[in-house]
Amino acid sequence: MSNSSILKSSIAKKYWMALTGLFLCTFLIGHLLGNLQLIFIDGEEGRRAFNEYAYFMTHNPAIKILSYLTYISILFHAVDGFILTVQNKKARPVNYAVNNPGPTSSTPARYMAVLGTLILVFIATHMANFWWKVKFSQEIPLHTYKIESKQEMNIPKGQSFYYTQVPSIQPIPKDTNTLEEKGTAIYYKNTNIKIADCYIDLHKVVMAFFGKSNPNGIFGVLFYVLSMLVLAFHLWHGFASAFQSLGVNHAKWTPIIKNLGKGFAIIVPLLFALIPILIYLNN
Ligand code: HEM
Repeated sequence: MSNSSILKSSIAKKYWMALTGLFLCTFLIGHLLGNLQLIFIDGEEGRRAFNEYAYFMTHNPAIKILSYLTYISILFHAVDGFILTVQNKKARPVNYAVNNPGPTSSTPARYMAVLGTLILVFIATHMANFWWKVKFSQEIPLHTYKIESKQEMNIPKGQSFYYTQVPSIQPIPKDTNTLEEKGTAIYYKNTNIKIADCYIDLHKVVMAFFGKSNPNGIFGVLFYVLSMLVLAFHLWHGFASAFQSLGVNHAKWTPIIKNLGKGFAIIVPLLFALIPILIYLNN
């Protein structure tokens, strides 16, 4: 490839990195708002709110499209970033930016690739902890909320239950001969008689993951807090740099964007980090 075509392809890559990076920033805001319910709404109300939210996020068709765009953006951003780093290294075999940092090269700018790789490790671990369980594992318990109609049931020995932690609600036997799940509810089979609302209990999974009752909970908390520090450094440089790659270079707007980026880089990871810390302290 000639020098000019390498340059052209690098510019295109930077452009796509900027677009996917900014899209991922909007994902972070949505994800943060949803997860803040874990610490700002207490008790059964919080549990229900979070489980309903998680159900909506995994079943709404528009959100599903956004989810696929998120996965594609993460992969694109990571692969493009890797190729750009390799191309830059080849173009400058002597890594003078590290050995001889100029006044314009801030520490995060020099370590973006390393920070990005650490974030990728975080995302892979994080998705294995929660996302994988929601999508592919049968381990997550169902949580029932309210029984709307009660009928006498014979519960054979060894029967499994739709269990509930609401004291006034009795466990409902998971009898597939008489019951069926439709959407977020349990019905008597082949009838419209609803017994209970029923959601995958992701709230319990998150609380158990970070809570003190989990002997490894503290390591989970530390891993998340350190990862949010890494995310903060990555965003500190990345947010404003994305606008620069898209060609936004304006006497009035660029300083505003830079300050906005710094605010974003502090507030978003800080709030994310508070979630596991407060869950640990309160559970
Ligand atoms: C510390 C706070 C966080 C908590 C408690 C949390 C919790 C969760 C949970 C419960 C899920 C699975 C739910 C679902 O699939 O809808 C999930 C999915 C996900 N999380 Fe997080 N998360 C946190 C921070 C982050 C951060 C900082 C990132 C990115 C840097 C991230 C990236 C993702 C991604 C990409 C998914 C898959 C989303 C999808 O399928 O649409 N999370 N998170």
